[in-house]
Amino acid sequence: MLTVEHVPQSVLPWWKTTTVYQIYPRSFSDSNGDGIGDLPGILHKLDYLHALGVETIWISPFFESPQADFGYDIRDHFSIAGEYGSLDDCRRLIDAVHARGMKIVFDMVLNHTSDQHPWFLESRSSRENPKRDWYLWRDGKKPPNNWRSFLGGSGWHHDPATDQWYWASFLPFQPDLNYRNPAVKRAMLDVVRHWLGEGVDGLRLDLFNALFKDEAFTDNPFSFRPIPSEENPDGFFQRNQHTINHPDTIAFARELRAVVDEFSHPPRFLVGEVFGPSSVLQQYCGPAGEGLNLVFLFKAMRSQFSAPAFRALIHEFESSFPDPLFPTWVFGNHDRPRWMERLGNHVGKAKLLATLQLTARGVPFIYYGDEIGMQHHELPTKDALDPVARRFHWVPQWMARRLRGWGILLNRDECRPPMQWHAGPNAGFSAAGAIPWLPVHPSVSEVNVAAQQGQPHSLLSVYQRLLALRKLSPALRGGSLDLISDRELPKHVLGYRRTQEGQGGEQATVFLNFSEREVSVALGDPLGHTLHSNLHPTPQARGARYTLAAHEGIILLGRPR
Ligand code: NOJ
Repeated sequence: MLTVEHVPQSVLPWWKTTTVYQIYPRSFSDSNGDGIGDLPGILHKLDYLHALGVETIWISPFFESPQADFGYDIRDHFSIAGEYGSLDDCRRLIDAVHARGMKIVFDMVLNHTSDQHPWFLESRSSRENPKRDWYLWRDGKKPPNNWRSFLGGSGWHHDPATDQWYWASFLPFQPDLNYRNPAVKRAMLDVVRHWLGEGVDGLRLDLFNALFKDEAFTDNPFSFRPIPSEENPDGFFQRNQHTINHPDTIAFARELRAVVDEFSHPPRFLVGEVFGPSSVLQQYCGPAGEGLNLVFLFKAMRSQFSAPAFRALIHEFESSFPDPLFPTWVFGNHDRPRWMERLGNHVGKAKLLATLQLTARGVPFIYYGDEIGMQHHELPTKDALDPVARRFHWVPQWMARRLRGWGILLNRDECRPPMQWHAGPNAGFSAAGAIPWLPVHPSVSEVNVAAQQGQPHSLLSVYQRLLALRKLSPALRGGSLDLISDRELPKHVLGYRRTQEGQGGEQATVFLNFSEREVSVALGDPLGHTLHSNLHPTPQARGARYTLAAHEGIILLGRPR
């Protein structure tokens, strides 16, 4: 049995104290004018990311792929899709990231391959093919059981060539691998070892909780839930008992961690895309942190913008992910509505939530463009490139908008438009005259990097200041968290303390004003304190009190007396 000792905060592993920036490679920076972002483009922007202060970049998949799901359908795990660059570009990027003292995380799609992957082509060629059992094939005049895919509808697809059905948890062209076949497990662990051997610092695990399904293919029970959510993936009137969060998947998390821990100089990490209540998600990490290092906690994306809602969320994360486990703070990704839409494009609110994201206990994941307040880009479904949107092309725009309000995005093109570097042609994403793969958002004239750089009150500068502060503050990076009782605080103010472990450890006291009104808070009196604000580069306290402006967040750093 693996045991993990309690590690003092001073020697916390790097992945617990890091900050992650997600790059959707197709949309970040296009170096060759074909309208598609690429690895050399990312390389050109590394100095920007370094100056922003993020410590780790995670890049969505750029491996060889038919791009039917823009890279989440892999045809060859060992080579790079031509439109993104070459293996040399990939190695150059890894080196350049490391040369800046940063880390790089790849996206690992373990659950399925493309239906164009040579393994699947072999597998589907005949019932006797040695690769037949690498995927899930069943007999039947109709779908072999009642299981539904993540998108609703049966996940079974009939293949007339051999008159059997194969299983796909997501889209039909993404057949699931059969992890009960030891050869599959070995092959995929080889992929993992290969990239870690190339110096990759961590892996983001796509649809990790779908890896193992019930061996007997038992029907899933009925549920009254029509629509799944992050906290409860049951939906489409089905309880996903036999398809999602199977105990064998949770056990496999430990096996995978052991493989990752073979690479210890420096240590590497795994972050899982898993859905379910916190009580289930924590099981992926294991009671002593011997499973996945981190799991995405998507609940923050849907929290109401209020002090009580975030207090409750912090409380939940703290009780479900106590030391040595560690929460994550996720406000957006390439599948969800841009968080600015939920905030009514209110930059002040974004500044406040950025403060929470970068000062609460946990690893923050920042989606590209969120640091400048890139807005959600509603696009006509009929022109969608996203295969999910194409599948749901019949859903009227008004209904898609309503679903977005519930955090469900049918047209994921809308959160993937080109990064807005400046107000010039193609937002600086692609050369003038090129046609970006998705249209640039019309807000580009105000919302862009160039306009915000060097402006002390811009959202970008707020991120920069907070990231710099976090880098210097052991309390913010790894300290424990205690919520300040709401009885001691004005209404609409959320407060917590982060404390570095050990005698005389640093303390960070954070107050966040969720209201439009000014409120005054008592600062307490830590030794040698410094005051920081998300709104003012040099905030001034009045004695032992501070008046928080609308949506202001402050951090008081010092040592407890
Ligand atoms: C989850 C990924 O985030 C999403 O973009 C992708 O389409 C599916 N998994 C299938 O791989």
